[in-house]
Amino acid sequence: MSGFCIPRRRFIAGSLASAAIASPFGIVRGAPVTFSADPYTLGVASGCPREDSVMLWTRLAPRPLEEGGMPPSPVEVEWQVAEDEGFVRVAAKGVVRATSELAHSVHAEAKGLRPGRVYWYRFRAGTAVSPVGRTRTAPAAGNSRFRFAFASCQQYEQGYYAAYRDMATRDLDLVVHLGDYIYERSWGQNHVRQHGVGIPTTLAEYRNRYALYKSDADLQAAHAAFPWLSTWDDHEVTDDYANDRSYTVRDPERFLKIRAAAYQAYYEHMPLPLSARPVGPDATIYAHYRFGDMLDMLLIDDRQYRSAPACVQGGRPTTVPDCAERTEEARTMLGRTQEQWMDRQLADSRGRWTIVAQQTLMAEARHRDAEGGDRYWMDGWDGYPNARRRLLDSIVTHKVRNPVVIGGDRHAYFAANLKRDFSRPHEATVATEFVGTSITSDGPGPGSTRSALANNPELLYANGEKRGYAVMDLDGRSCTVGFEALDNVKDAHSAVRRLATFVVEDGTPGAKVA
Ligand SMILES: [Fe+2]
Repeated sequence: MSGFCIPRRRFIAGSLASAAIASPFGIVRGAPVTFSADPYTLGVASGCPREDSVMLWTRLAPRPLEEGGMPPSPVEVEWQVAEDEGFVRVAAKGVVRATSELAHSVHAEAKGLRPGRVYWYRFRAGTAVSPVGRTRTAPAAGNSRFRFAFASCQQYEQGYYAAYRDMATRDLDLVVHLGDYIYERSWGQNHVRQHGVGIPTTLAEYRNRYALYKSDADLQAAHAAFPWLSTWDDHEVTDDYANDRSYTVRDPERFLKIRAAAYQAYYEHMPLPLSARPVGPDATIYAHYRFGDMLDMLLIDDRQYRSAPACVQGGRPTTVPDCAERTEEARTMLGRTQEQWMDRQLADSRGRWTIVAQQTLMAEARHRDAEGGDRYWMDGWDGYPNARRRLLDSIVTHKVRNPVVIGGDRHAYFAANLKRDFSRPHEATVATEFVGTSITSDGPGPGSTRSALANNPELLYANGEKRGYAVMDLDGRSCTVGFEALDNVKDAHSAVRRLATFVVEDGTPGAKVA
């Protein structure tokens, strides 16, 4: 550190009298803001990296589990982005008004940055200066390598975030989060820590749930180390919900009120673009990011617009016998608007690699019952086979170069080859798929993954016994995926080891063991 000679965390108890404050950021006019405790309890984050911009995030929350503990008045928060960790060469700066309406969260878009380089950023509210975060803009064309991690499913009670502790030490360009950032409910056994309260349904309760999860130092370290992209799955709202349907909240009108609260709390706690701010129960979070000419990343939302689960009689959309409804052509996973958008983005994809970042396993995972009948898990793509086929058709039609699908949700590692028709295993592989396991959430037992492998020739690998994440390393010749697994999720300092490595060669879809 050099230049301003200030501690990374500083806050003042009591009040200040002056109307203008000298600060490392310059002079700010107006009433001074004071905090009785550190307002940066939830850390800092960045996201949505473009060639010339990045989103910066923090939230003022001196008492994080009491809806932040801020007075209702708005607070002006300054931000700075610098080319050096000491903030001598400031590249961009600005002021954002943090309001109680958005839980005093800050979403600042830093523009005018240079492509493919590391920047450091920090915030100041009153005299309280935030920890320093590090971020990286998207590279310009001509980049020769891109490395990112993908993660999902981080039930707070079931384990520690040692996976993030490990991830934060890596040399990565990006982290992609594929959903279940929070869990609305307690489940599983051998909890190492507690939610402490029940299932949230109000905005205040969802805010407190995010605050609990984001108080974790290892999660904060991974946010502060890299820019993130994120999409949600079901547990950010309620288990297995589909559009306006929830098996836990049967009245759609009441459910949409809960969804509105949940979406708003998600927005308030993630480094999302301003365009993702919810309007009532609606929020547009699907997006297309380019990383030079190496990678196009299509981040999709398969929860908000999907058709109601098929073949389910009133209860939870679990693994049930097949029925005619499942294969109706009109069934949609993305909704008509997003599906059309997706088709246009695939047509427009220019990267050597195109990643479809979505929530769950896209490959078919047929279950055989004792009588030889087929059963499908109706909450995943198997409940929407024609929507899956349309997406894969779109990849074929537009001759998308090196398509790779990444997913989460299943709490297991998978590698798979994707076919337009999974009943015809000799058909050409259209795309390759990798699913990361969960950061902490309990996974399926070995019997379940063994039978999935036995019944589905396109599944090449399945392992639900380990928690962790995945890293993807892209260059001009290949895409290498490493499954990074924790020794023990119940140990906050657990070691991480490479469980398996797969390679996709440029021009040849399909996963090969490295
Ligand atoms: Fe999950």
